[in-house]
Amino acid sequence: MDLDLAPDPLLVVPGPSQIPPRVMKALMRVVDHRSPHFHRLYRDVVDGLKYVFRTNGDVYPITASGTGAVETMVLNFVKSGDTVLVPVFGSFSRRLVNHLRRVGAEVVEIDYGWDRAPTYEDLRARVESMGIKQIDVFATVYNDTSPGLVFRDLPKVAKWVKSYGALVLVDNVSALGGDYFEVDSWGIDVAVSSSQKCLAAPPVMSFIAVSSSEAYRKAESVNHPSIYFDIKLMRKFGEKFETPFTPAVNYLFAIREALGIIREVGLENWIRWHIERGKAIINALTKAGLEPYISNDYYRSTTVLSFKYPTGVSPDWFRKTMYRLGVAISDGMDEVRGKVFRIGNMGYLTRRDVLTLITGIVAALLINGGNNIDGGAMKDVFKEVLSYWEPEQLLVDEG
Ligand SMILES: Cc1ncc(COP(=O)(O)O)c(C=O)c1O
Repeated sequence: MDLDLAPDPLLVVPGPSQIPPRVMKALMRVVDHRSPHFHRLYRDVVDGLKYVFRTNGDVYPITASGTGAVETMVLNFVKSGDTVLVPVFGSFSRRLVNHLRRVGAEVVEIDYGWDRAPTYEDLRARVESMGIKQIDVFATVYNDTSPGLVFRDLPKVAKWVKSYGALVLVDNVSALGGDYFEVDSWGIDVAVSSSQKCLAAPPVMSFIAVSSSEAYRKAESVNHPSIYFDIKLMRKFGEKFETPFTPAVNYLFAIREALGIIREVGLENWIRWHIERGKAIINALTKAGLEPYISNDYYRSTTVLSFKYPTGVSPDWFRKTMYRLGVAISDGMDEVRGKVFRIGNMGYLTRRDVLTLITGIVAALLINGGNNIDGGAMKDVFKEVLSYWEPEQLLVDEG
């Protein structure tokens, strides 16, 4: 098999996601990052980002993956000794706790396990019963990508923690553009996201939105050792439409194109596409006999759909069969590895892609002997698709 000649598998993992051809084409351009051409590009990208973050504050692009943006947020807005409240409901919330501990924060973790997200009532009751009097920072993931959970009560919680004078920091790497999220009206001080998920752009650009003067005041008082991730430098250079260091200029061209598409479609519609498509995928696979891992749809993520592997199916064999059919999906992470598989319902997934995904899953499960899959004679029909010869160099074949 020649992996460079074979068609790339359909990306239905929770990032990176499929990229529209227009966005790919825009990658083929580089200009001097201290030139008027770049200033224009920077302004366009920041305007587009303010539109998707729903903020009139500032947004800075960072040449780094999502982790770099999370690190920027923690380094600049959390001080050693700060009391930081963090609800933990998956791998990425746990990673956030690790980031916070590394800067010396006193982290108060509120654990929700892996199948439910926090609610306002529960979080508040638990914090009050613990007798916590001081919260300097409330830091959270909005959409935990590992189990596929969304924190729907974030706006209510953000409002409540403000009564402690807390700064609200949010990692929304995996749902910006794919689900409702409003920096200004929800009272979020700082939020981060990334290019490679619901914005349908290539990986390794991230963004940090800073919406309040309180956040900047805090940043002024924090000493951290990083130069690359220093928000004060980003702000200073941002005022002249530049980044402090050499950015991935070509990626910014691609991101401008991707943000342009979202603006043409309209953010409301772009989000609606994710919501309706997610529901359709859940309905179709549920009808085929699969069970969503998150049973309560109030907690269930729109952008990361996790399903239990049906009994009688080998998880590895199942995902390999999917790969042979040209569809990349993901296993669960950490606690749910080998128990659930995850679908990234992110960005530019067309009806044709969804059809390929669903028929691929049903076919792979039937062939694998999934007990609850009702496919009748279709099993033999699907087997045919994997049985015939193709030129070896064109195969995507892990089997
Ligand atoms: C919620 C969340 N935070 C942070 C990250 C880290 O992003 P990256 O892998 O781009 O560094 C991810 C990646 O999937 C994520 O889903």
